[in-house]
Amino acid sequence: NDDTRMVWIVASITVFPDFPKPDQDFSVPFHKPEVFRDTIGLFAERYKGKGITLVAGIEARGFFLAPTIASELGAKFVPLRKPKKLPGSMEEYSLEYGKDRIEMQVGAVEPNDRAIIVDDLIATGGTLNAALKLLVIVYCDIRAGAEVVECACVFELPELKGREKLGKVPVFVLVKAN
Ligand code: PRP
Repeated sequence: NDDTRMVWIVASITVFPDFPKPDQDFSVPFHKPEVFRDTIGLFAERYKGKGITLVAGIEARGFFLAPTIASELGAKFVPLRKPKKLPGSMEEYSLEYGKDRIEMQVGAVEPNDRAIIVDDLIATGGTLNAALKLLVIVYCDIRAGAEVVECACVFELPELKGREKLGKVPVFVLVKAN
């Protein structure tokens, strides 16, 4: 990416060894207002004019980005949360064995929604895969959920091949870890 905004986004990344998980070491540098603004700007520009009606954000760090991107696009924000956080009926999809779950409120998605899913990081891809399954609900071969156009993250750990879990849905990332 030769966008000059990427220069200070990358330069602002702070490395914290083994955070948020072992072998991961990124912290999203959103305490710097210009970096936050330009990160939002890069995502918003990519999806403007693409008919996006829904921006899903994954708890917790997807929440830093998704509502602001949704606002820029004039789309609705749908939170995908850890269990027992959302009131009312929920749908849920388990992450891989031994991991946590994420849930979404029933009725958050309409069949004609065009969605993007936002998170800070794609590592194994398990979290985005669960989010994708929540949004793209299929009953009896009929799609009842959203069309997910793309997943959008700040960071990717490419060695973990997370994007291979997401089938045909592309993943757009700003920064790939070495
Ligand atoms: C981190 C990160 C992503 C997920 C990526 O969240 O914010 O959501 O892991 O990992 P994966 O691609 O292997 O699924 P975490 O589970 O640490 O939750 P938190 O944001 O609530 O701390």
